[in-house]
Amino acid sequence: MRLHTARRSALPRALPRLLGSLLLVTAAGVSTACAAPTASAVGSDSAGRAARPLGQVVPAPASVRPGGSPYSLNDGTRIRVDGSSGEARKIGEYLAGVLRPSTGYALPVTGKDGADGIRLRLGSRDSVLGAEGYTLTSRRGSVTITARKPAGLFHGVQTLRQLLPAQVEADSRQKGPWSVAGGTVTDTPRYGYRGAMLDVARHFFSVTEVKRYIDQMALYKINKFHLHLSDDQGWRLAIDSWPKLATYGGSTEVGGGAGGYYTKSQYKEIVNYAASRYLEVVPEIDMPSHTNAALASYAELNCDGVAPPLYTGIEVGFSSLCAGKDITYDFIDDVIRELAALTPGAYIHIGGDEAHSTSHDDYAKIMKQAQAIVGTYGKTVMGWHQLTGAEPVKGAVAQYWGYDKTSAANRQQVVDAAKNGTKLVLSPADRVYLDMKYTDKTELGLKWAGLVEVQRSYDWDPATYLSGAPADAVLGVEAPIWAETLTDSDDIDAMAFPRLPGAAELGWSPAATHDWDTYKLRLAALGPRFTAMGIDYYRSPQVPWPAEPAAAG
Ligand code: ACM
Repeated sequence: MRLHTARRSALPRALPRLLGSLLLVTAAGVSTACAAPTASAVGSDSAGRAARPLGQVVPAPASVRPGGSPYSLNDGTRIRVDGSSGEARKIGEYLAGVLRPSTGYALPVTGKDGADGIRLRLGSRDSVLGAEGYTLTSRRGSVTITARKPAGLFHGVQTLRQLLPAQVEADSRQKGPWSVAGGTVTDTPRYGYRGAMLDVARHFFSVTEVKRYIDQMALYKINKFHLHLSDDQGWRLAIDSWPKLATYGGSTEVGGGAGGYYTKSQYKEIVNYAASRYLEVVPEIDMPSHTNAALASYAELNCDGVAPPLYTGIEVGFSSLCAGKDITYDFIDDVIRELAALTPGAYIHIGGDEAHSTSHDDYAKIMKQAQAIVGTYGKTVMGWHQLTGAEPVKGAVAQYWGYDKTSAANRQQVVDAAKNGTKLVLSPADRVYLDMKYTDKTELGLKWAGLVEVQRSYDWDPATYLSGAPADAVLGVEAPIWAETLTDSDDIDAMAFPRLPGAAELGWSPAATHDWDTYKLRLAALGPRFTAMGIDYYRSPQVPWPAEPAAAG
């Protein structure tokens, strides 16, 4: 798994087969085939090149009204922000940071006076926009993004990025023109919880690698970053009251590498970086199983008082906290207290999955106490769906990770909990576990939940997926990526792309836009953008990727 060169050469490369039969993209990143659903949205810039269709965005916007003249950036363009808000200015600077390297333009971020340029406006009174919605209006001379709240403005900026040619994502100067089709996008999310999870326990990922993934999530309007911080193979966060958790429990990983952990200040850096991209961190401390790293660090946490060795394999379900010892609850309290103090977000995730070596009574006892502790520190409980087999507290959120082999009884238990008020986040393993192999030829990843090609990953409806669960129990969708076989950002890229944007679309876009045949065209148009960002994605033969001169790899 560490032989990246070998892996890259083994990635399916479908381009030769696709050439000639499918889309060809111009230098401006435009495809008439891609434009089919919104053909009338195509404008034309001063150089005569068509601008990208206004609706050709992932996630699909809620509403697109194409029309009028396109907007073109030029070397005099200013980014005009609401002076009244530091947040708008920060978003303006972020946008300038994206656009300056590729356009070569100065793009000063200035006050809001002036009707031209890129205008970022807060304080819309349009209540339909909610906390995350925005409108984007493009016409000759200006693009205006308006939102009630900064998160909406930020999401609108992500849409603007995708409406510009793919090369805008490059980190070196590219040839324009830089045009946006004329018209108006009005957009709000379907679900409030749109997540992605990274497992930093099976293999440790540096702060830089974590930030890279956060930036990728932000592109698709994901707003929750679930960080799986502890497991059998590693404990990844410094806890002052139990220091050996990190220094010893964090000292290895799957395969026996050096592992690692985040200091409290590094964790805060991740939280703040995520917040600057309007993502809330949902930290997870998994219990009562998936705890070997903690049990190895402190002998007194074990029922028999004997610390097991550190673990570097990939089996699950063999470890358990000891329900009968008071120190177990002191441990949980200390860890949750310190974690809650570092975490501004609403949730603490307490795991609860695969407790195969914990009796039901012990499981129920530990999860009951752990939930109460999370409440004591002012946080909302989140757990894997096995939590519904204990007693979920009021307001708890269960994350469903079942798949086609999950028993009817287990599904029913989750459905019954949902009927009783437990909210659900959907992460079906055979759809949005991004570490599942695409095909038998995929070198990285696992396949215990089956092979998950791009269409399978996208083609399901969160509202009806868990038959019998009330649709309003569903808070949203999360795409986890487990790291037994993944060691660095290249590995994350290879598994998350192109499935991550699809999971994000399931969370953001209205059900009415959900359609594989049109989605695959919008996804195909992202290919050159992935390439411009240095993402070596899986060229699924299900997707009509455009030819890319620089796509070989
Ligand atoms: C899980 O995949 N064990 C949550």
